[in-house]
Amino acid sequence: MKTYSIKEWQFSAYGFGNLMETSNRVDKMKKEGIREIVRKRYAEIAKDKSSCCDSSSSCCQSTCDTSADYSTSVGYNEEELKAVPEDANLGLGCGNPIALSSLKGGETVLDLGSGPGLDCFLAANKVGQRGKVIGVDMTPEMIDRARRNAVKGNYKNVEFRLGEIENLPVADCTADIVISNCVINLSPDKERVFQEAFRALKPCGRLLVSDIVLLRELPKSVKNDAQAYVACVAGAEKKDKYLEIIKNAGFQDVKVIKETQFPIGDVCGDIDSQGAQRTSKKGVQKEKNYVASIIVSAVKPKNL
Ligand SMILES: C[S@@+](CC[C@H](N)C(=O)[O-])C[C@H]1O[C@@H](n2cnc3c(N)ncnc32)[C@H](O)[C@@H]1O
Repeated sequence: MKTYSIKEWQFSAYGFGNLMETSNRVDKMKKEGIREIVRKRYAEIAKDKSSCCDSSSSCCQSTCDTSADYSTSVGYNEEELKAVPEDANLGLGCGNPIALSSLKGGETVLDLGSGPGLDCFLAANKVGQRGKVIGVDMTPEMIDRARRNAVKGNYKNVEFRLGEIENLPVADCTADIVISNCVINLSPDKERVFQEAFRALKPCGRLLVSDIVLLRELPKSVKNDAQAYVACVAGAEKKDKYLEIIKNAGFQDVKVIKETQFPIGDVCGDIDSQGAQRTSKKGVQKEKNYVASIIVSAVKPKNL
C-alpha cells in the first residue's frame, strides 16, 4: 500500500496545487482534507473489519489478538463486552469512559464519534428505558453498522445520528453527560469540538473523554504521516494544551482521572510497518514517553 504524507493526501484529494487564495480558505480546505482521510479510513474499517487486529491504521494497539483482548487491555471487562452486540466492538477505543461515568437511570448520554456503538450500548444498559443515548459519527458506514447493532441488540433507547462533532446535530442543553472515546484527537478543530460539547450539555452536565494526547513533540516523520493521523497519533494535541482547550470552552473541574503511557508503535500498529525504518533508527517507537491515553472529566457550570 502506498503511503502518503498528510500534504499529499490533501492536495491529491482537492487538486488545488499551490494557487490558494486566502489563508482562511486554505485552513478550511486542510481541515476538510484531514476529515476526508479519516472518514475514508474508518469507512473501510466499518465495512471490512471484524477485529481491531485484522488491520492497521486504527486507534488500536498492535499487541492484541482480538478486539475483545484489546478492549480488556484498555479497561473493559468481559461482562460488559458480553452485554453488547459483538459487532459493536472493533477495538477502536483507548479507555473505558463508561466505567468511570456514574451514569444514572433516566439520563441522556451523547457520544462523540460513536463508531460501531460499543460505548452507546454500554451507556444504554445503564440509563435504562427512561434514559436516552445519542451517538454521533461522521462516517456513514459506521452509522450503518451501529444501527444494525442496535436492531440486533433490540436497543430502543439508542439513536445514531450522522454528523460531525464540530457541528453536533443536537440541540442546546440536551445531554446530562457527553462521552467520547479516542475520537477528538482525530479532529482538526478540537476547540470547536469542546465548544460544541459544552453547548450540547445541560447546566451541571458532565464531560468524560478518553483520548490520546502527546507528552512531547512527535518526530516529523510521524507528525506528517497520514496513517499515523488516522491511527490517532499525529493529530493528537499536547496534554497541557488539550486541557487548556477544555477549560477555554467554559468547563470547570477539568481533571485527568486516568493516564497510561504507550510507545508510539503500540498505539498505532501501522507505524511499525510503514514508518519502522524512520522511527526505529532513532529508537522513537520503543520510547514510552511520547503518547498517553488519558481519561479527562469536567463539568459545565450551573450558571453561565
Ligand atoms: C477510533 S474510532 C472510535 C470509535 C468509538 N468511539 C469506539 O471507541 O469504538 C473514531 C471514530 O470517530 C469518527 N470520527 C472521527 N472524526 C470525526 C468527526 N470530526 N466527527 C464525527 N465523527 C468522527 C470516525 O468515523 C470513527 O468512527
